[in-house]
Amino acid sequence: MSTVRVYDIITKTRDGLELSREEIRFLIDGYTAGRIPDYQMAAWCMAVYFRGLSPEATAELTMAMVNSGEVLSWPELGDELVDKHSTGGVGDKTTLVLLPWVAAAGVKIAKMSGRGLGHTGGTIDKLSSIPGFRVDLNRAEFVQAVEEAGLAVVGQTGNLVPADKKLYALRDVTATVDSIPLIASSIMSKKIAAGASRIVLDVKTGSGAFMEDLDKARLLAETMVDIGVKTGRRTTALVTNMDQPLGHAVGNALEVREAIATLQGKGPEDLTELCLALGAEMLIQADKVRTPEEGRRLLLEVMEQNLPIEKFRRMIAAQGGDARVIEKPELLPQAPVCLEVHATRSGYVTHIATKTIGLIAMELGAGRQRIEDDIDLSAGLEVFVKVGDKVEVGQLTARVYGPSQDAVENAAAKLKEAIQIGESPAQPLPLVLARVSR
Ligand code: URA
Repeated sequence: MSTVRVYDIITKTRDGLELSREEIRFLIDGYTAGRIPDYQMAAWCMAVYFRGLSPEATAELTMAMVNSGEVLSWPELGDELVDKHSTGGVGDKTTLVLLPWVAAAGVKIAKMSGRGLGHTGGTIDKLSSIPGFRVDLNRAEFVQAVEEAGLAVVGQTGNLVPADKKLYALRDVTATVDSIPLIASSIMSKKIAAGASRIVLDVKTGSGAFMEDLDKARLLAETMVDIGVKTGRRTTALVTNMDQPLGHAVGNALEVREAIATLQGKGPEDLTELCLALGAEMLIQADKVRTPEEGRRLLLEVMEQNLPIEKFRRMIAAQGGDARVIEKPELLPQAPVCLEVHATRSGYVTHIATKTIGLIAMELGAGRQRIEDDIDLSAGLEVFVKVGDKVEVGQLTARVYGPSQDAVENAAAKLKEAIQIGESPAQPLPLVLARVSR
């Protein structure tokens, strides 16, 4: 057997040469086990950053990461689980709406989700704002909740993809996060290790997204779909706009409130539309329909029958939460202080600095800077205008919710700057920018 050396793997990657499966596994296993030092792994990440990886090597890397830890499967729930992943955005409460909606159309959903970090939120934090709601179900409870309600969403447990935890921390301090093969393998390895065999990806792009640039977002989507194809997981991606917050609400309890309204057919247009687009893809993956058009029709039909909100009610109850929040959203955590923001001039909304809005919400307490930070589930804001809207001076554009008068005044001042109003009409932004499927 040939002897593999880390030095040679780094050299080959630096020179743009192909790596074998054996070399990639040697690297990932050795790094996870602590046999390969950070300085060599950092050099390899930098080589990947500059030279990229072939599609084959990217898929091999993904599977090497998957196999670095526990790999879940859910035979009790049928083999083919459909999962959805978003690369993260501001006001992105899609999962809260999408999953009950798709479950209402007859697809079983068992999802593991994460907490928020930085300017983007996480589904688990949002659900935690429902009084009593348990996100820490054990395996038997999780399976039972899925059987009972048709869907369940829990926090990530177990030792899934330890290679990614270590590698991501290293990339974070060596300026190598921003590499498409490394991002794609990081995301896909976590989905695959959690047991997903059919995957719908929402790759966000724009001023509030991790991938601001459309071309890079499209490439990320293509790379992830390719990993899916090469590893036998049916994968479709939509590249969607994050150049303005999704819906109005940004902040945990506020987003749950908006999700409830959307599940009742009374939500913001963009959020509803995105859920229809992603939901149709999930229905295709689950073999319920054959085309996006058929998927949309089925979703609209179940909405007509008020089924999505009933699914959400059952999910809350099955996970120990107080389902009365549906009729009484005031049971959700309420911020002590609320301040309205009004337009200081007439004109058209030309730009919304979306990442800034996410950061304002984080500073109010809605998000965490570091993973160990506590958050305030009641804090956040609502932005009522969209790019292209005409506004009159004095019109209500936003509301800020926070722990003190100082906090909301400070946030409101920043929010005014983040919503730009100009003289000439700006084009409303398209929501779905690309669909990637093979
Ligand atoms: N999100 C991930 O999960 N991994 C990355 O590498 C980047 C974003």
